Amino acid sequence: MKAGRGLELRPLYLRDAKAIFALVETNRERLRRWLPWPDANRSVLDSRAYILRVRALQRRGAAQSFGLWWQGALVGVAGFVWIDPINRSGGIGYWLAQEAEGHGLMTRAVTTLVRHGFRTLDLNRIEIRAGVRNLRSRAIPQRLGFRREGTLRQTERLADRYVDHAVYALLAKEWRAAKR
Ligand SMILES: CC(C)(COP(=O)(O)OP(=O)(O)OC[C@H]1O[C@@H](n2cnc3c(N)ncnc32)[C@H](O)[C@@H]1OP(=O)(O)O)[C@@H](O)C(=O)NCCC(=O)NCCS
Repeated sequence: MKAGRGLELRPLYLRDAKAIFALVETNRERLRRWLPWPDANRSVLDSRAYILRVRALQRRGAAQSFGLWWQGALVGVAGFVWIDPINRSGGIGYWLAQEAEGHGLMTRAVTTLVRHGFRTLDLNRIEIRAGVRNLRSRAIPQRLGFRREGTLRQTERLADRYVDHAVYALLAKEWRAAKR
């Protein structure tokens, strides 16, 4: 999916494992501040296993993740980390390489995912959860008109602490109304 300004969301393929692992390796310390999985991703084989897991979930309609390609390079990953087809809801997750931060790329990617979620996946509700103190991440749903619904206390265990999450959601009817 083209997201504008040279940014493209492409499905993840096994051939991307090396590039993903290289990004994790160079961004390990900043990613592990806010994400639980970098410590378990220690080799290209782990990245391959991740891609295989994502693709299996995708086949079952339970998730859908994309590599973010910008200026010919993979710069991050974003997608629906979970999809609940019964309730037609989904949760978006994301991360970017440091050198790609500060250009509005993730806001663009999430705008594209939201459109895809409501139009193509026929979702009714899209959620984004972010660490209460992860202000860069929280800025994304705030910019895109998500409503903050509350706080989940100590809901995520990171390397050295439990973190509270701010929960944001956007409903299909709100998205449609805002587009008019
Ligand atoms: C969270 C994360 C993806 C945010 O990245 P980001 O680059 O700040 O997000 P965006 O792509 O939306 O860009 C916003 C920034 O680009 C700037 N920008 C430039 N052009 C812009 C545009 N057209 N639209 C929006 N923002 C723009 C904004 O001013 C802002 O920069 P600032 O914070 O210095 O003011 C990134 O910090 C990250 O990967 N963090 C580590 C992993 C993580 O926390 N993941 C989320 C877990 S919930």
